[in-house]
Amino acid sequence: MKFLHISDLHYSNDFQGKGGSFNKVFMAMDNPLEQLKSVTDRNKKYDFVLVTGDVCEFGSVEEYRKVKSYLEELFACPVIGTAGNHDNIPNFEAGFNELFYVEEVKQVKIISFNSASNQNDDGIISEETISALKKELEQKTEKKIILITHHHLMQQQFVLKNAENSDKIEKVIKDSNAVLILTGHTHHFYVHSFAEKPYFTTGSVSFVVENEDGVLNVYQEPLVNEYKVTDKAIICRPLKHRDKVLLVANLKI
Ligand SMILES: [Fe+2]
Ligand SMILES: [Fe+2]
Repeated sequence: MKFLHISDLHYSNDFQGKGGSFNKVFMAMDNPLEQLKSVTDRNKKYDFVLVTGDVCEFGSVEEYRKVKSYLEELFACPVIGTAGNHDNIPNFEAGFNELFYVEEVKQVKIISFNSASNQNDDGIISEETISALKKELEQKTEKKIILITHHHLMQQQFVLKNAENSDKIEKVIKDSNAVLILTGHTHHFYVHSFAEKPYFTTGSVSFVVENEDGVLNVYQEPLVNEYKVTDKAIICRPLKHRDKVLLVANLKI
């Protein structure tokens, strides 16, 4: 079976007045739904699509519904997501899926757990989420378990802080038979192991900020991860747009 991991679309019907110091980035970039088409082959069949947060830029319920149904139609398969720090959390829940959400597709069980919080942009995995995840992971299943959340869980992978309570979640995951952990938030591809499981962060379907000798330049270079699940392995293939478009040079944030 095959599935797609996409992240950080930051979709909006209208970016007017949104994004603070990133407003000129949002105004300059192509529609993320079009960027997504530029990196994916629509003739390819996927069993499901996972979206690791920052789905919309503080979207309305209608915008979450729009992105979800767009993805379901584009890929003709179930779409499961998690909220990010740029999402409107109640609207995400109403228009996309619940913050703690479990769905089984063929031999896979996907568990989406929340790290987004209004209190902290760097993310917090709440005690409530940790116990819900622990309980779910204790359920007996023959399925391969894939975990998704928005914030990165490893400090070493990015300049921004990893989600609060990453250490607690690491213990819970380590004791489980989860086979894969997927995150977003950094807008940069990363691969490592976390809690002794394969761990991937995918790039973004919006923009990427690169620090070039102290100068922050913003590029449009959509990247998504495609995975193939076999009995013996899970193989990841990043799909990247070949042309890098400079959106904003020397961004001050
Ligand atoms: Fe993001
Ligand atoms: Fe984020």
